[in-house]
Amino acid sequence: MSARKIIIDTDPGQDDAVAILLALASPELEVLGITAVAGNVPLPLTQKNARIVCELAGRPDMRVFAGCDTPLKRKLVTAEHVHGKTGLDGSVLPDPVMGLQDQHGVDFIIETLRAQASETVTLCPLGPLTNIATAFERAPDIIGRVQEIVLMGGAYFEVGNITPAAEFNIYVDPDAAKIVFGSGIPITVMPLDVTHKALTTQARVDAFRAMGSEVGRMVAEWTDFFERFDKEKYGSAGAPLHDPCVIAHLLDPGLFSGRHVNVEIETMSDLTLGMTVADWWRVSGRAPNTMFMGDVNADGFFNLLTERLARL
Ligand code: BDR
Ligand code: CA
Repeated sequence: MSARKIIIDTDPGQDDAVAILLALASPELEVLGITAVAGNVPLPLTQKNARIVCELAGRPDMRVFAGCDTPLKRKLVTAEHVHGKTGLDGSVLPDPVMGLQDQHGVDFIIETLRAQASETVTLCPLGPLTNIATAFERAPDIIGRVQEIVLMGGAYFEVGNITPAAEFNIYVDPDAAKIVFGSGIPITVMPLDVTHKALTTQARVDAFRAMGSEVGRMVAEWTDFFERFDKEKYGSAGAPLHDPCVIAHLLDPGLFSGRHVNVEIETMSDLTLGMTVADWWRVSGRAPNTMFMGDVNADGFFNLLTERLARL
């Protein structure tokens, strides 16, 4: 079987970095390119971090594009309080040698979807949805060409992490999220309801470190750093590895379970801005538009992740 073609749209972020490593370690996936977006940290850092991670994976040939540096209609909100000043705090890596592509990330998304056979490219957003929505607004003809969107974002039972009601990726650009969720494309969502079950316990971080490779050491150091915030906030055993859930779903969908439901994005209310209103109990009568995941086999997820990272 030929590899599944994907574009990773990302704002690294330690957990984005692990997701990129997982994708690059997996022969079932062909990463056509990586588009960076402003999110956890501003765009100059996210595009640089994406290149750092490609080099760490031994893939300096991977094409990395810079996309949008601000949300569609709002001021950028960042998350240095979680990810540190660089977005990849926790271990020091040299500046990347590989270059940034000249083309804008949004143009790359449009061009790639037009060039590849229809419904053969999956979009994997790991940050705010600004690049994806901008591509859809600029080139509506590509919407019907997307195979699927598998994204990390939102929360329902787990409620918000950046506000009481909203998850960070959706909150940063709710207007973009509204466009994406209204696109009619099949969408699979990894919300906090799932990712808060994929926790980096001590044993799991030790397994990364025990690989004895640079990748294993970096992932352990990044998760050690990233953990401190969530342990303090939630009193949990470790930090949620949010974004790798997206890639793991492509590799082994059986690890996750959820419901096909309607999800709408709140864009008007100050109080609940960016909330993913998921009709879990199907009470609204609105047509389902999203496979909204609710559970993960966490041991299976970490076994897959560890086995794949060990290949790098
Ligand atoms: C999401 O926000 C970011 O902090 C993480 O990288 C993840 O994509 C979790 O809310
Ligand atoms: Ca992210």
